[in-house]
Amino acid sequence: MEPALKVEGYTFSYLGSDAPALDGISLDIAKGEIAVLAGRSGCGKSTLLKSIVGLIPHMYSGSWSGKVIVDGVNVASAKISDMAKKVGFVFQNPENQIFMFSVERDVAFGLENLGLPRKEIRERVDWALSLLGIQKLAYIAPHELSDGQKQRTAIAGVIAMKPSILILDEPTSLLDPYTAHEVIDIVKNLNKTLGITVIIVEHRLDIISSIASRIVIMDSGRIVANDTPKRVYSNDEALRIVGPPLMAALHRELGNVSEPPLSVAEMVSALKIKYD
Ligand SMILES: Nc1ncnc2c1ncn2[C@@H]1O[C@H](COP(=O)(O)OP(=O)(O)O)[C@@H](O)[C@H]1O
Ligand SMILES: [Mg+2]
Repeated sequence: MEPALKVEGYTFSYLGSDAPALDGISLDIAKGEIAVLAGRSGCGKSTLLKSIVGLIPHMYSGSWSGKVIVDGVNVASAKISDMAKKVGFVFQNPENQIFMFSVERDVAFGLENLGLPRKEIRERVDWALSLLGIQKLAYIAPHELSDGQKQRTAIAGVIAMKPSILILDEPTSLLDPYTAHEVIDIVKNLNKTLGITVIIVEHRLDIISSIASRIVIMDSGRIVANDTPKRVYSNDEALRIVGPPLMAALHRELGNVSEPPLSVAEMVSALKIKYD
């Protein structure tokens, strides 16, 4: 089966900078995965996301070699408007993504730009609002929403476009821990109900690991680890870059009981096996 994303020997340098922001990246992500990108600030995570949605090379100047292929389409030779139908991009700060007079108008915005018939816009807006559990907010002005509701609105606007890949760039970094959990739950449910492929930059490995199919750790424009969460948390080089999530750190302290647990529940069963 065609992967959702195929990156082949891809290098990108922003115009005017001497070091490439991405340096020989190769990565396959299958349909339906939840792939997490992590790594220190400046390692190239957002540059990779921009290259998947087509902002690079269509909106940012620079030089590149290699290929980024989404659903069989080479991003560099596709129109950015066509990429916008395939890849939905959720920013860190929903304020950059919502700006109209009501939640409903915001969710309709991208669809209106596509020039879809009114009836279809209505149907898709209602569908997205209900999927995100915000039907009751339809007529509320965005500035009256809580942070979590704003992020839901931004996600609804993206989902209404029916993309095959949902990309989120640090969607929880401005949120309190409770709201961050809520957003991760939403992502999990969208993946489950729609089968949508998710690529998410997330630093809170504690809350994302148990739903991730893959963790990709980047450093200085390169991929240093790309594997299942359990294998990545057994990889010392990867952990030197991101630091282990709590359950993986506990697991190390205990002295290898089976594989690194990804949740409290998994840790409890590992402890039962060890001490029973
Ligand atoms: N528009 C830009 N022009 C020039 N350099 C940039 C631009 N955006 C990012 N960079 C540089 O590219 C590298 C990767 O940045 P970025 O992809 O934003 O990293 P991350 O998202 O992992 O923090 C950094 O060195 C950053 O300074
Ligand atoms: Mg970034």
